[in-house]
Amino acid sequence: MFEPVPGAEASEIRFQNLFEIPLFPAPHQDARQNSWTTLADMQGLILLLKSTPARVIVEYGTGHGHATLQFALNSPDNAVIYTTDYPERASSDYICHRSAEAGKIRQSFSLTKDWDLSAIAGTVDFQFIDATHQYEEVLADSKKALSLAAPGGLICWHDYSPSWKGVVRALDELASTGLDLVKIQGINIVAYRHPRAA
Ligand SMILES: C[S@@+](CC[C@H](N)C(=O)[O-])C[C@H]1O[C@@H](n2cnc3c(N)ncnc32)[C@H](O)[C@@H]1O
Repeated sequence: MFEPVPGAEASEIRFQNLFEIPLFPAPHQDARQNSWTTLADMQGLILLLKSTPARVIVEYGTGHGHATLQFALNSPDNAVIYTTDYPERASSDYICHRSAEAGKIRQSFSLTKDWDLSAIAGTVDFQFIDATHQYEEVLADSKKALSLAAPGGLICWHDYSPSWKGVVRALDELASTGLDLVKIQGINIVAYRHPRAA
């Protein structure tokens, strides 16, 4: 299902500000939301991103903008990255803006369920689902992602691990319906490649 990644040696991954965490008030976040993407998860994600290759990218849950920034650094010059977080996060500091690649980023502040991406339905090459980790919302974000995916597009989920029971329940349920989900060995990422056009 996953082909060798052309030209995506780990040494070719570009990283910037990966360990710099801005401090800002985030009263809406409970402690369990702090499941920031690790270096290993990020490396795996970027290798998957480069395997697509991804021009239209969607991220559910901007966080501090770490993954957003690495997606911008590792995508073609004409890539566009859509990302969203809670409306109350609109005034936060985002690492992804401190980059020469920031022009690729289209940032929204809406709940993922209210995020209208219908204009890019069927065109999205790479999606990263990492917003709420609650069962119903992971399922809803996954259904949205499936409707947006381009032929051959990749969808990746973060935090398929025992600490995140909602993510595990939602993805196990999707897999039981026949969706060909793959857990990437050694990291907390699950991936799915949308069928290519016949
Ligand atoms: C784990 S963080 C995202 C980390 C980021 N993807 C990364 O790898 O750098 C999850 C983010 O999703 C946001 N979030 C949670 N539920 C959401 C929802 N229903 N709609 C929009 N954003 C949400 C949280 O505010 C938080 O900033």
